[in-house]
Amino acid sequence: MPKKYEPKMLVRRAERQDIATLVEMRMALLKEVGNVHSKTEGKELMGAIRRYFHRELKAGRYVGFIGKIRGQAVACGGLAFYARPPYRGNLSGKEAYLMGMYTAVDWRRKGLGRRMLRKILAFAKARRVGRVWLHSEPGAISLYDREGFCSNDCYREMIC
Ligand SMILES: CC(C)(COP(=O)(O)OP(=O)(O)OC[C@H]1O[C@@H](n2cnc3c(N)ncnc32)[C@H](O)[C@@H]1OP(=O)(O)O)[C@@H](O)C(=O)NCCC(=O)NCCS
Repeated sequence: MPKKYEPKMLVRRAERQDIATLVEMRMALLKEVGNVHSKTEGKELMGAIRRYFHRELKAGRYVGFIGKIRGQAVACGGLAFYARPPYRGNLSGKEAYLMGMYTAVDWRRKGLGRRMLRKILAFAKARRVGRVWLHSEPGAISLYDREGFCSNDCYREMIC
């Protein structure tokens, strides 16, 4: 089979000046997965997301990555770091929540999401995180599972 064309994407850590792009891509993701129900809600959410990135990026609790092709932002993803009390198999207690994996519509199925994911996971490993977890959209499960993720049915949550 002929090798799939994979465009050259430069991936780097997001900085303060990238926040507008991170917000734009996160809003596009949320709209696509049906998480924004009205213009008013979208506006409110966008403001809250912008504040989140400013605060968490500055504090180093959120680390984002942006992928660019010829200067254009085409993909992103990030990690929210936190620590739990140590447990068997993770004595540091360090964990990261993987979020905001997004590839611009015109650039999908070209391997960019996978490259972004690998870069992010390499970063998490370098930070000696004991566990990375995420909530997956149905269409993205195979992307994660191919990189070694598996499902865990033990979670319970309460929306407060
Ligand atoms: C999920 C997403 C980030 C994947 O980005 P991408 O750049 O298209 O990913 P890749 O081209 O690297 O695809 C890697 C693998 O993921 C899987 N995959 C990606 N999109 C898929 C889809 N729509 N349906 C089924 N499998 C898919 C495939 O296994 C694919 O490998 P293949 O093309 O060799 O079959 C992108 O589709 C997206 O932004 N979706 C909307 C937002 C979203 O749902 N984000 C995930 C939140 S958990």
